[in-house]
Amino acid sequence: MKQKHRIKSKKNLVIIGAQWGDEGKAKMVDVLTEQVDIVARYQGGSNAGHTVVTDGKKFVFHQIPSGILHEGKKCVIGNGVVLDPIGLLEEMGSLVKAGVKVKDRLIISDRAHLLMPYHRLLDGASENRKGSGKIGTTNRGIGPAYMDKMARVGLKVVDLLEPAYFRRKVREVVKEKNFWLKKYFGLPGVDADKTVDAYLKISPQIKPLVADTTAYLESRLKKGENILAEGAQGTLLDVDFGTYPYVTSSSASVGGVCTGLGIGPQWLDEIYGVAKAYTTRVGEGPFPSEMDEDFGEKIRKRGGEYGATTGRPRRCGWLDLVALKYACRVNGFTGILLTKMDVLSYLQTIKLCVAYKVKGQLIQEFPASLRRLADCRPVYKEMKGWQGDLSQASQLKDLPLEARKYLDEVERTIRTPIQWVSVGQDRSQIFQKS
Ligand code: IMP
Repeated sequence: MKQKHRIKSKKNLVIIGAQWGDEGKAKMVDVLTEQVDIVARYQGGSNAGHTVVTDGKKFVFHQIPSGILHEGKKCVIGNGVVLDPIGLLEEMGSLVKAGVKVKDRLIISDRAHLLMPYHRLLDGASENRKGSGKIGTTNRGIGPAYMDKMARVGLKVVDLLEPAYFRRKVREVVKEKNFWLKKYFGLPGVDADKTVDAYLKISPQIKPLVADTTAYLESRLKKGENILAEGAQGTLLDVDFGTYPYVTSSSASVGGVCTGLGIGPQWLDEIYGVAKAYTTRVGEGPFPSEMDEDFGEKIRKRGGEYGATTGRPRRCGWLDLVALKYACRVNGFTGILLTKMDVLSYLQTIKLCVAYKVKGQLIQEFPASLRRLADCRPVYKEMKGWQGDLSQASQLKDLPLEARKYLDEVERTIRTPIQWVSVGQDRSQIFQKS
């Protein structure tokens, strides 16, 4: 049921990673921003590294929605994000240096939680202690910040605007954090007052950006403006639906849009899942369609598969349709945006993982148990590769027959239409399929 007060038919769009992150969401956001008035981030934090290449210039966004590159569009950082205010100012500074107008275009939720220096220390310490059992986090403090939010000891952006309360609360929380840092991890603790001073020093720069973004979004939507909700990470890193515990600590799938922006589900029109034509993941955890080391290295080099936030080499694998079908289900994708098709050119054979085999049994569902997922062996459908350069393709019929067959097979298996196909890094290297 659509809201009665919707006065225009401009659609609200959601962009979600359909795999383990790094699917090329930022490029899709950048392209689709033309169609919307507001771009809003709803979860995650500076663990994200969203890369956009425009006119040969490369921008990497960690916290600011990549829609900021489009003059006249507003950008919102929603309550579901854990905000590193110092990192945010740095990011704003480099955008301004690059000639991007940020002033009056960025709005931060007063309800967003703050990422504090002790979160980062605890993230690193916890990973070190886990040793080979580590999650492989981005070391940005994301898990500890969301832990505090859920444990009801977090600090919000609005708290930063009340200096006396902020100092009292940080002092209180730091007592416990220092207990863990010193007594459990054997590390030096943090100085509460120095932390507070550093945050209060920058708060005058943050204050003008802060608003009740739920009210802001509602008023814009009711006026007939539309939004694009920009997801970070991906469905398989979602805290509920991902490969837990090798996940991030937020709701990277569609549910996170409503809780992370404070808008009702009736506003969401198109839910787009962004998937690479193959699969990558950074960090630890089972990955059934992972390529062998040599082949994986070849794809990594071709696809430039190195983390935008950490620089870590990404693990590479064939497109896993069992996982993608699962992502379509839990998000209700209305369409898929397939990226990096060009990277698969010039291969003799291309594999699609269409099922798993576990101890001789064929399974089609993505398992909840990681032990079971680790035992899954991929069942591949082999397809003939294409031998042409795709980078200039601007419509479906520019693709070689084998590439079109590949797209057909993906659509047929996941029963979701592929709507856009990306064939290169640049903003222009993309076309609408359906
Ligand atoms: P965290 O989000 O830093 O806690 O990391 C948890 C897991 O999510 C690790 O496997 C990270 O590599 C992964 N991760 C977090 N952010 C991203 C991202 O933007 N792209 C890909 N993987 C990510």
